[in-house]
Amino acid sequence: MSPMVEAMESVFLHNMPNESPQTVEGATSPPSERVGDFARKVIVPYLMEQSDEFREHSLLRQRGWNNPKGDDYLRAQRRNADQSSVKNDFYFHSLVKDIGEELHQFGNIFAINRTQEGPPKILDMCMAPGGFWETALKKNPGSQAVAFSLPVTCGGHKSQLPKDMNVDQKFLDVTMLASDMGAHEIPKDHPDAINFLPQQLRQNQLFDLVISLGLEHLNPRGTMVKLLHQLEAWDTAKLVWTFAKFSSIKLLKPKRGQAKRSSFYMIASKV
Ligand SMILES: C[S@@+](CC[C@H](N)C(=O)[O-])C[C@H]1O[C@@H](n2cnc3c(N)ncnc32)[C@H](O)[C@@H]1O
Repeated sequence: MSPMVEAMESVFLHNMPNESPQTVEGATSPPSERVGDFARKVIVPYLMEQSDEFREHSLLRQRGWNNPKGDDYLRAQRRNADQSSVKNDFYFHSLVKDIGEELHQFGNIFAINRTQEGPPKILDMCMAPGGFWETALKKNPGSQAVAFSLPVTCGGHKSQLPKDMNVDQKFLDVTMLASDMGAHEIPKDHPDAINFLPQQLRQNQLFDLVISLGLEHLNPRGTMVKLLHQLEAWDTAKLVWTFAKFSSIKLLKPKRGQAKRSSFYMIASKV
């Protein structure tokens, strides 16, 4: 069991001895106003005690926070992320391709082991620039792919996928795919009521590899790759813990691109 999963169990089993085991199984969250408290008082101390890696990482992070140059660095990074340019787009694309390759070396994640007939199927809900796609399509020639990404006009990244790739690309805001997420009735007074989009994927349209979002469209035994932030935050830890209950999970922080950020990838296979 990973230290994180143990920490999640310990939240209820050791620190809240009066809670019933059913509460643990149901993965009940603390009240929202106590979520920060739980992370600070339960998950962080537990990991500090159990994990050398977490202790070392916390020290390094503290040094970063104490250094004012860190603020300048992050400001420049945010500026670059917000400003699309040929140079930035090229850099970002090559970065994501390298990250995809590293994820693959680590967990063989892009090699689809399909048990059904037909070509391997891949879904990416946040596709641009398309670095993972290139890796995934290279490892699975002939696969069929569906990809969504935010239009460039709404601040999204530009797709770098060659036009001749077998990818059905749709540029839209995935937060407007209420129907695809199972919410078919939108209250008329919802501020985004007129912006929600018609269903894009068929209910039974399943994929072997799902990147970002879309667990409900994953084939049984498929693989899901998800970018997460701050492992010790309550919501992140709870998501990882929940996935660990029904899949085999690996957490990876790629060397390139994310060494100075809180982000990391969760690879859930055999879902
Ligand atoms: C970290 S990048 C994903 C990298 C990508 N999977 C790859 O392999 O190159 C996140 C992408 O999600 C897009 N995005 C952000 N918000 C979105 C939204 N609401 N709907 C669709 N795409 C979104 C961004 O424009 C960006 O292209």
